[in-house]
Amino acid sequence: MSTAAPAAHRQLHSLLADDLVTDSVAEFVPGPGLQRLNVRFDLELLHEALERVSERSGYGGQTDDGFGVIPLTRRPGTTGTAPEDMCGRFWLRADERYIEEPMDIDVDESQYTELMPEVDDTYFGEVHAHLSELAPIGRMRILSKATYNANSWHRDPEPRIHVPIITNPGALMIVNHHATHLPADGSAYFTDTRSYHTAINGGMAPRIHLVAAVAI
Ligand SMILES: [Fe+2]
Repeated sequence: MSTAAPAAHRQLHSLLADDLVTDSVAEFVPGPGLQRLNVRFDLELLHEALERVSERSGYGGQTDDGFGVIPLTRRPGTTGTAPEDMCGRFWLRADERYIEEPMDIDVDESQYTELMPEVDDTYFGEVHAHLSELAPIGRMRILSKATYNANSWHRDPEPRIHVPIITNPGALMIVNHHATHLPADGSAYFTDTRSYHTAINGGMAPRIHLVAAVAI
């Protein structure tokens, strides 16, 4: 036995004495880069708007690859369905080299000033107007995640505001070293996606958020 063994034994004994089981895993716990904003939306109206926009855009729910997008804003003069409307620049460390590399193309969020026509007369239009009072809003989208799905571990050029519409306790947002569930109760959450982050849906039900990029 090594000389470190008694110390390691005491350490493990101490760790085993901890009880970290907590109901807070199913709640929002703020942390660096993850904060609830002082704004509240009507969850029922969010559901109605989601239903209406989904019907109008021909969106049938989750996509096979686990990641669904409905654009809610667009650049004037476009249809809002260009590839960059769906993704856009991000950075990640993709493999065992641990080197950060840029992916995808730059997107000028400040150009996404117009609501999509199928959104204009829905509650999402009001949400856009409210959020625009707080900060310039770029791409605003409905982002869905299928069950047992995760985004890449990456960082974006700008922060995002999340308004959860349909979720479950297994759906988590992680920014740097902090992970939390974002309940769908009409809250809007600031997520500093300029830091490394990911979103996962570890539940057995869909996760659908309205996500607005802050055009900084
Ligand atoms: Fe991101």
